[in-house]
Amino acid sequence: MLKGKTVLAGTCGGIALYKVPLLLGRLRDLGADVHVVMTEAATRFVSPLTFQTVTGNPVHTDLFEPPRLWNVEHIALAERADLVVVAPATANILGKAAAGVADDFLSTVLLAARGQVLYVPAMDAAMYAHPAVQRNIALLREFGAEVMEPDRGRLASGLVGPGRYPETERILAACLRLLGPGDLAGRKVVVSAGPTREHLDPVRFLSNPSTGRMGFALAAEARRRSADVVLVSGPTELPPPPEVRVVEVTTAAEMREAVLGEAAGADVVIMAAAVADWRPRERASRKVKKTEGDMELRLVRTPDILAELGRDKGRRVLVGFAAETGDLVENARAKLRAKNLDLIAANPVGQAEDSGFAAVTNRVTLLARDGSVEELPLMTKDEVARTVLDRVVRLLEEV
Ligand code: CTP
Repeated sequence: MLKGKTVLAGTCGGIALYKVPLLLGRLRDLGADVHVVMTEAATRFVSPLTFQTVTGNPVHTDLFEPPRLWNVEHIALAERADLVVVAPATANILGKAAAGVADDFLSTVLLAARGQVLYVPAMDAAMYAHPAVQRNIALLREFGAEVMEPDRGRLASGLVGPGRYPETERILAACLRLLGPGDLAGRKVVVSAGPTREHLDPVRFLSNPSTGRMGFALAAEARRRSADVVLVSGPTELPPPPEVRVVEVTTAAEMREAVLGEAAGADVVIMAAAVADWRPRERASRKVKKTEGDMELRLVRTPDILAELGRDKGRRVLVGFAAETGDLVENARAKLRAKNLDLIAANPVGQAEDSGFAAVTNRVTLLARDGSVEELPLMTKDEVARTVLDRVVRLLEEV
């Protein structure tokens, strides 16, 4: 995903520094060429050898390079970098960068950088709250850099408050977005995911084996492309994707309300949820006691959310999924028409282990309103998400 991209990591002396190699390893695994600049203080916390090993590139430190070399090397590095990520960003580097001071390798690089710059502040809560630090952060944002909000929690000082170095996943998501195509910037994308549960009583429900993986992958991919993303999710075990607003629901009726509410201002709605088609007619408020003999369950239909969206489509791009156990293309085509969709991703369920519920991969055939049918090869759900959103971007250009 990051082939051909160069990331320059500026590391400062802070206790959170020991977490940074994890981030850089992930960026490298995704194909990025990662270079590291360490301040002198940083080299006291983690050895340059660690970063050299993780990135596979020589590390730049003030210790080994005399100042006259900065002017040559910093220009080359700063010009090549698609993204400079400063992690952890101490109060000191924020202050120097905001003031335009260039007295070491990292601050010099930051003045020369032409690509995106992401600061990941981590410091004590009192320092973070200081007006000087807040002013510097505001100034850097004004200059066009992105400055992450630190997490709240227990800090190295023992205090509890804002200032914690964020989870690697959150920083990685910000890096991927800043390195991404930005082709959904300014667009609102609503994605539904997971199963719904239709309760018979407080301890029993009808549901299906959906894990939410496909919908979560779509939400993360839409955010990577800079969309404003809302994920309406039934019960799942998955961690929420960073930078995505998650609305948790349980039943089809709750999902309908949340999706229709969010769809009002949306440019794109993707229904990847496995919505239950029926619910027990009554929901008992207490556990139903077993009696001798069989039990008969009366089911009633739940609302078809996607069909309802299709009836009042407006200029929104509507994408559905079709879970089929047979006649994949015919059934999916019928659903595309009946629900007035722009695109439907049909996938076989309940047959092979490499596709459908709970699988990491998926076999998808894409059918579009214009009649085109594209059978995708076996892909991971992340790759399917990328392909579906490529099509969505093209569809948005058409409406
Ligand atoms: N869907 C929905 N509301 C429902 C049922 C389904 O919005 N009550 C959406 C799903 O999220 C999916 C699409 O409709 O995007 C097709 O779902 P699927 O379960 O494949 O088909 P159904 O329409 O339920 O038809 P059938 O169960 O007969 O295959």
